[in-house]
Amino acid sequence: MDRIALVGGTQLKGSIPISGAKNSALKLQAASLLTSEPLVLTNMPELADTRFMVELLEQLGVTCFWPKASGRLSMHAEDITSTIAPYDLVRKMRATFNVLGPLLARVGHATVSLPGGCAIGARPVDLHLKAFEAMGADIVIEGGYVKAAALRGLKGAKIVFPFVSVGATEHAMLAATLAKGETVLENAAREPEIGDIAHCLVAMGAKIDGIGTSTLRIQGVDELKGTTWSVIPDRIEAGSYACCVAAAGGEVTLTHVVPETISSLIDVLQRAGVEVEVGPDWVKITRDPAVPIKPVDIDTQPYPGFPTDTQAQVMALMTRANGASIFRENIFENRYMHAPELRRLGADISVRGSEAVVRGVDTLRGAPVMATDLRASVSLIIAGLMAEGETIISRVYHLDRGFERLEAKLSGCGAQIRRLSGSEE
Ligand code: EPZ
Repeated sequence: MDRIALVGGTQLKGSIPISGAKNSALKLQAASLLTSEPLVLTNMPELADTRFMVELLEQLGVTCFWPKASGRLSMHAEDITSTIAPYDLVRKMRATFNVLGPLLARVGHATVSLPGGCAIGARPVDLHLKAFEAMGADIVIEGGYVKAAALRGLKGAKIVFPFVSVGATEHAMLAATLAKGETVLENAAREPEIGDIAHCLVAMGAKIDGIGTSTLRIQGVDELKGTTWSVIPDRIEAGSYACCVAAAGGEVTLTHVVPETISSLIDVLQRAGVEVEVGPDWVKITRDPAVPIKPVDIDTQPYPGFPTDTQAQVMALMTRANGASIFRENIFENRYMHAPELRRLGADISVRGSEAVVRGVDTLRGAPVMATDLRASVSLIIAGLMAEGETIISRVYHLDRGFERLEAKLSGCGAQIRRLSGSEE
């Protein structure tokens, strides 16, 4: 299993191109099942997760063509030959569950393994299933599988989500594009990825109003056509590198960014004393490492609030602040697994339930640490960039799920980072 070794203390200088958003790409890949024509995605991030989704789509009969390093994935679901997503595939990556809605909408039935919990929390899919039931699907859960059928097609419905769910909003929206009549999604999530998916669906012929708001109105159509769509830049990747530069100090321009999608993080960095300059599609982060980071409190919220997916990164930064910061994680129940690993580097973090208190320390020291989930693993990189000596991160397959060419992007700016292939855990 690969590990990453990095030596802290070097300022970063240069530019980092931001890749397409994983969490948009995965659902756009599922959207390919909605049409018999080719859907081509450009700015496609080459990640373990997106490759894995291709594997599932191929198993369902979708012809996929994705030359390495092309950033261009073509998916053609002319004939869907299977409507079964087996446990082995769904358990490895939750987003594969998102083929259920498109299969149900296009073919009228699907059998998809329940995704189960994961490291950051229980993550049930009840809201997804309730939405499909409201749209007329019969759903039974048997042997760990969701068996869904709507043999005469899905019908439009009014769905009021009891709380905001990114996945349930996206999943219901995908299915509603081919339902009969109007579907209204109230208290819908407003994450930028949902807007990206909605705009792509509109380009495929879907009728969706209210994009970017918490009420989505979808008029079902008989069929969708193919299109070519450029995946929105990854705001979490951008936010993660912004934290890397804030931590290490230096001056780096992040390019191919939609700056308003990271405005809550920019606000936090500015309050921490980091200089941020914003252009039309770039953001420049500057910090003199001699000037201490100011502590900032963080409350994770659905978009446009501060994202849970950059909580770990800011926590890493705050380990060296000149004071205490309080973190409140409101989205997932178990999202502080990075805290014990950061402590191994010398951080002072105490966690009680959904709250964590981080008291800034003068020095972090490199140590062997272990990645526990995708976003937690990048927080270890951020802390390692500030630490004296060498930090070795194991289980970097978590990083490979969501960060394209991470070592190349950071070493291109001067970071002393390298991958150790296939060594011990
Ligand atoms: C998406 O997960 C992202 N994943 C997550 O990123 C991200 O952290 C999360 O949204 C919040 O922004 C993908 O897009 C693949 P939710 P999702 O439904 O859709 C509860 C990453 O590392 N809930 O908004 O699963 C749920 O347990 C990942 O890229 C139900 O109770 O998030 C959570 O507490 C990690 N029932 C809350 O809602 C449901 O049916 C919000 O989850 C659905 C969700």
